[in-house]
Amino acid sequence: MPTRKATMSGTMASFLNAVRPNGNNNNRLTVPTSIQKQHSTSSTTFLPPTSLHGKVAVVTGSSRSIGAAVAKCLGELGANVVVNYVSDERSAEEVVQAIRSHGKGGAISVKADTSSIEGGQHLLHEAVRTFGKIDILVLNAGVMGSKTLMELDEGFYESHFNINVKAPLFMAKAAAPLLPSPGGRIIFFSSSLTSSSSVTPNALCYLATKGAIEQISRVLAKDLGSRGITVNTVSPGPVDTPAFREGKSQSVIESIAKQSPSRKLAEPDDISPIVGFLASSAAQWINGQNIQVNGGSVV
Ligand SMILES: NC(=O)c1ccc[n+]([C@@H]2O[C@H](COP(=O)([O-])OP(=O)(O)OC[C@H]3O[C@@H](n4cnc5c(N)ncnc54)[C@H](OP(=O)(O)O)[C@@H]3O)[C@@H](O)[C@H]2O)c1
Repeated sequence: MPTRKATMSGTMASFLNAVRPNGNNNNRLTVPTSIQKQHSTSSTTFLPPTSLHGKVAVVTGSSRSIGAAVAKCLGELGANVVVNYVSDERSAEEVVQAIRSHGKGGAISVKADTSSIEGGQHLLHEAVRTFGKIDILVLNAGVMGSKTLMELDEGFYESHFNINVKAPLFMAKAAAPLLPSPGGRIIFFSSSLTSSSSVTPNALCYLATKGAIEQISRVLAKDLGSRGITVNTVSPGPVDTPAFREGKSQSVIESIAKQSPSRKLAEPDDISPIVGFLASSAAQWINGQNIQVNGGSVV
């Protein structure tokens, strides 16, 4: 896409070329010094600011869909990636193999239910045990159920808040002391629907969780920003994943797709490059932002 490249900064253009598809102690974890040394990188090697070489990234919910695309993108940029799943081990292993064979970094898969604080802690422990550190935390796992006010019950409410808000918040808390300071990265996932007037009544609980995560992200950016750790949110529009399709008729899906200027749904690979960019040192001055990635569906 030469015309697009010509209008971008050199950093952004080289980044896009690199990642385009086919292109009760307060939850503290400790890192053994011997492992830290083992994984340290040479300071004499020249690396572009978008490289993630030598970094370790944890991506929750990355066995498929958007999370899998993010995990592969970070691997392509050079990171060692911890691929997380809760039920689909085979898909998680496929992502691991893709990173090992095509990416520049290593990868492992870890089964952990990130709807609980304990599950999130387990995931972080496994990342540190294997790679010795964590540089980048991407909190992608989430549920997108549909119920109106009168259909809402406590179980539905709690299932959404547990995985979409509580567990990511406590994972951020547990990871914060481990992240490099400066240089650590936390990236949350919200939705463009929080900014859309076309929202439907059944999005009540889902959007309540995403509104909460956007505010958590803003405040943490001030808190952890004082240590040089950036905290940002990525807000996709409609992306063609099983979670998006669930409970929708084909005609509803088509009408949603038509709201985009390009009249189509996004694919997970349309979302992942911005996560790679935010994770890199090129984005060190981007903090506390909510990046809309929706092809113009919501402007
Ligand atoms: N798709 C969209 O249109 C859209 C739009 C805006 C925002 N988003 C946000 O983007 C994120 C990803 O959405 P998606 O559509 O890619 O979701 P998805 O298709 O449902 O994929 C879910 C992924 O999360 C994992 N997962 C589910 N529950 C988990 C748990 N309790 N613990 C650990 N992993 C778990 C799944 O693992 P298994 O394979 O093991 O089940 C899978 O890898 C969500 O935060 C969502 O709100 C999506």
